[in-house]
Amino acid sequence: MKLSAAVQKSLNDQIRKEFNAAYLYLAMAAWFEERNLTGFARWMQAQAREEQSHAMRIYQWILDRGGKIQLMALDQPKPSWKSPLEVFQAAAAHEAKVSASIQDLYALAGKEKDAPTQVMLQWFLTEQVEEEAASTAIVERLRMAGDSPSGLLMLDRQLGERGGE
Ligand code: FEO
Repeated sequence: MKLSAAVQKSLNDQIRKEFNAAYLYLAMAAWFEERNLTGFARWMQAQAREEQSHAMRIYQWILDRGGKIQLMALDQPKPSWKSPLEVFQAAAAHEAKVSASIQDLYALAGKEKDAPTQVMLQWFLTEQVEEEAASTAIVERLRMAGDSPSGLLMLDRQLGERGGE
């Protein structure tokens, strides 16, 4: 079954959103690196790699279904934030937007009677729950750390333990 024009367009748009997320997280990684918060930077770099792998999953899906890849321009990410808390609040808000977008895509695939695309998107629905939970948990921990440099450094060390998935 061929991808419908509407599903193909939205999948291509989702590739753009995933790369936009990767780009945003790279900007955030650089912001942390500039402040010698290398653990946070490492976490953000790992997150950026994950987003690229999400984009490539959809890219491969379009090709496997005999569809056409249409890459789009990326947004320039915001270059700076006021605090680590603000960075993670922005990351959590971004993930909530991506989740909404995947849910819209899932609903569209249903409307277009594209069951295989819905099954493919189920992985993303679960992944988004994890990603929202992860960024929200870090927001909460940053709130707890408040203005304490030792709390921030401890969190930096913990987050730095995240390897490249
Ligand atoms: Fe691929 Fe974090 O959305």
